[in-house]
Amino acid sequence: MKGKRIIEVRDLYKIYQVGSNRVHALNGVSFDIYKGEFVAVVGTSGSGKSTLLNMLAGLEPPTKGTIQIAGKRIDRMNERQLVAFRRNNVGFIFQSYNLLNTMNGIENVAMPLMFRGVPKAKREKQAAKYMKLMNVLDQAKHMPNQMSGGQQQRIGIARAMVVEPKIIFADEPTGNLDSHTTMDVLHLMQRLVREQQQTLVMVTHDNTLASYADKQIRIVDGKIVSLEYGERGLEIEGEDAEAEKQLSLGAGAQQPQQEEGEPETASRERKEQGVSENE
Ligand SMILES: Nc1ncnc2c1ncn2[C@@H]1O[C@H](COP(=O)(O)OP(=O)(O)OP(=O)(O)O)[C@@H](O)[C@H]1O
Ligand SMILES: [Mg+2]
Repeated sequence: MKGKRIIEVRDLYKIYQVGSNRVHALNGVSFDIYKGEFVAVVGTSGSGKSTLLNMLAGLEPPTKGTIQIAGKRIDRMNERQLVAFRRNNVGFIFQSYNLLNTMNGIENVAMPLMFRGVPKAKREKQAAKYMKLMNVLDQAKHMPNQMSGGQQQRIGIARAMVVEPKIIFADEPTGNLDSHTTMDVLHLMQRLVREQQQTLVMVTHDNTLASYADKQIRIVDGKIVSLEYGERGLEIEGEDAEAEKQLSLGAGAQQPQQEEGEPETASRERKEQGVSENE
């Protein structure tokens, strides 16, 4: 099986100017994401994960580079086009929940459906379905400040999934959940996105969580230092997996020309070890 590319990122930079200091939050990253893929973006605090996710979702403009999503260059869109793009394609789970404090639980979850013009009864039914899945239906009438952090987080996940978007961007979606609830939520999200052929891009610094992904993109100081594929990820990307390593890891990933018949595995293993030694 070979998948269809849904996100193409090329040579992406984000440089923040803080006083006289220039912060290279993203320092030239290139990669592809395929339809239906579950991708984990991993790295330590401050490595540029949220910056990357915000740019992929069109929440922040890049300093340089291109982002193509479903064939459209989102780095070239104006604010009005971006709003429409997000509404129609993207669900975003924020690291800091971003719930509206003036709305109760079910109103928060149903909000994206309101923007799509879905009638009230229908959107409350759909919102209730996702709240039940996330085990927070009992919070329907509670205001965010009457909920625990973990409950707010699960409300935020339900809100991102309620429109069943093509792509879900999730920034530490389980950062405030206990380990048991984390695994429940992860498995649930994984099942839903597979059933609906959605693409999930999840930021995490939890290696156990990341190990469930089809592909792990590891970032250090705004640069990609390794790509690792799960079995299903290799299936989705087919032969492109090797090409993508070259693209994302740059010269370090260049392989010497293979003699015909020489097994490729050994050199690939050496290369991967080289990459992880640099971390
Ligand atoms: N608005 C901003 N202005 C200036 N610098 C910023 C801004 N946002 C992020 N940065 C800097 O960019 C770098 C990357 O930040 P980012 O939020 O992407 O990290 P992160 O990998 O998501 O970290 P964490 O795991 O702590 O959430 C950091 O050095 C951060 O201080
Ligand atoms: Mg972050």
